[in-house]
Amino acid sequence: MKINDTIAIIDFGGQYAHLIATKVRRQGVFAEIRQPEDPIEAFGGYRGIIISGSPSLASHGEDTDYTKEIYDLDMPILGFCFGHQEIAKHYGGKVIHGGREWGSSQLQLSNDHPLFSGLGSFETVWMSHFDSVAEIGPDFKEIGVTLTPDGVAEHRYAAIASDSLKRYGFQFHPEVDSTVNGDKMISNFVYGICQCSPSWSMDGFIERKKEEIKKQVGNKSVFLLASGGVDSTVAAVLIGQVLGPDRLHLLHVDNGFMRKNESQNVLKLFEKLGLGSNLHFVNATDTFLDALSDVVDPETKRRIIGDTFIEVFEDQAKKIGITEHLLGQGTIYPDTIESGGTKRADTIKTHHNRVPAIEDMIRQGKIIEPLAELYKTEVRELGELLGIPQEALDRHPFPGPGLGVRLLCSSGDALDDDLAAIQPAVSEISEQTQVAGLVLPIRSVGVKADLRAYEYPVLISGKLPWNSLINLVSALTSEVENINRCIWNLSSGIPKVAKPLATTATRERLDILREADFIVMDSLKSHNLYHEIWQCPTVLLPIELDGQLGEMVIIRPIISERGMTAAPVELPTHLLSELKGRILDLQGVSSLALDITSKPPATIEWE
Ligand code: XMP
Repeated sequence: MKINDTIAIIDFGGQYAHLIATKVRRQGVFAEIRQPEDPIEAFGGYRGIIISGSPSLASHGEDTDYTKEIYDLDMPILGFCFGHQEIAKHYGGKVIHGGREWGSSQLQLSNDHPLFSGLGSFETVWMSHFDSVAEIGPDFKEIGVTLTPDGVAEHRYAAIASDSLKRYGFQFHPEVDSTVNGDKMISNFVYGICQCSPSWSMDGFIERKKEEIKKQVGNKSVFLLASGGVDSTVAAVLIGQVLGPDRLHLLHVDNGFMRKNESQNVLKLFEKLGLGSNLHFVNATDTFLDALSDVVDPETKRRIIGDTFIEVFEDQAKKIGITEHLLGQGTIYPDTIESGGTKRADTIKTHHNRVPAIEDMIRQGKIIEPLAELYKTEVRELGELLGIPQEALDRHPFPGPGLGVRLLCSSGDALDDDLAAIQPAVSEISEQTQVAGLVLPIRSVGVKADLRAYEYPVLISGKLPWNSLINLVSALTSEVENINRCIWNLSSGIPKVAKPLATTATRERLDILREADFIVMDSLKSHNLYHEIWQCPTVLLPIELDGQLGEMVIIRPIISERGMTAAPVELPTHLLSELKGRILDLQGVSSLALDITSKPPATIEWE
């Protein structure tokens, strides 16, 4: 069924494609995802089309085998990033491999275009691209120009338009929250240019989902892994409202990677929500730690954690005696897209609920995931409408593999060759701002121009104002190959040597991390900052600085709306001193640093 006033989003696999759909829906207009090779008939009846970004390079002619007849349709088309470049190319422009940018940019709006109606002359926008448009075709004009930090206009076609053809392009991503007035630009497109009327709401979503759940479950029951996080809790309540508590079994697994006292609190929460009648609990710490002994690689860790969840789940289902059931999961959209879950997206990380065994069960129709189209803010909104108490909805997101992806492991290899190739460039850039930059011999996961980047962090030591620090991070991560993250040293001194410790996921290390995480959460709450911050992972790195015995703790406070992009948060000095005192007091810890990298180029979690 095609709802009137719908926008089609062509998903070229950019991390942001579904975010565009959500943003359009948040404007109250229905949006559907279409694949680039869908037949032209599939594009009939829409009010407009938005073409997403992509990990492919338009400059190299990658991914150009799509339904180009869309350009013959008499409906407005707007492209973002790769989509913008494809539109420029199609109408006689030229795209080059160069002019790469990531992070915030200042845009000067060069005229009063309806896409920018209601906005000022300058806007902060979010860039993440390797390619750029070097020439535009005769029907097009430049309507937005990037400004350098010194205010110099760079005519790189940050925004282009052909009003006669109704074709438009933005090099930046208006769909991410860091483009401050991106919502307004999207609204100008859907209401102003495409002339849509409102056609989507969360109430409508609930009705549609309840019908779908009824149909999919039939007379079976659902067995849901309830971590206590917002997503699985909202999924449990929604399914419970359709099936009733008797046909919904909840399993809470302590995998050994939970926060301090977490499992007891989760069990209490489900009792309070009236879902206690079929609530099961298993402490599977030994099973998970045995499976991970000797494992260092983050993707292998993620796969093993995901597979072990299924083994534990199947084992428990047998013990409880449930046979005809579906596995319920609180999977939300970013979990699927960043695992390469849509056709073209690069695999940034394998989420615990997207391991191959789960993919198989999805194909067999054995999985139910009512929230798979939604983002975190929408899940919270849905939770409120379902009557879940606010304190359960306002918790920071916590990943399924828990502290397992915050406990970095190492083979102890000093990685001398790699570091020797990067350190001189890092030192040169850092010294220009009078600080020291030391590359650490351990890698973490990041995302650059929609591709997974498994690269090294730089430890910055020295005093700098926050904005200068952030500019330095941007210079280091964009100018030095193989650097995707920067951390700021909170311990005293300027370390000269960083040595990796050969170690894996052990109980002792988990206990240190659990305690450090507890201190961070406790301090954020007591300083009334818990709700100001979207998420604050605490990470343990097996790195010793200057021969001091003990590992390194990293604190990563960020703000984000949907977890797809993130910005680091400056914590007040008195809070940093308190954290330093409490964390450096922990046995087994010898240094402390603050992660000050945005996403991209780093991801929120280190693994
Ligand atoms: P990244 O690290 O990819 O994280 O920037 C984005 C958001 O997703 C959460 N995350 C996960 N959530 N299972 C989950 O349920 C996972 O495997 C997983 N990995 C990351 C992360 O905490 C952040 O909120």
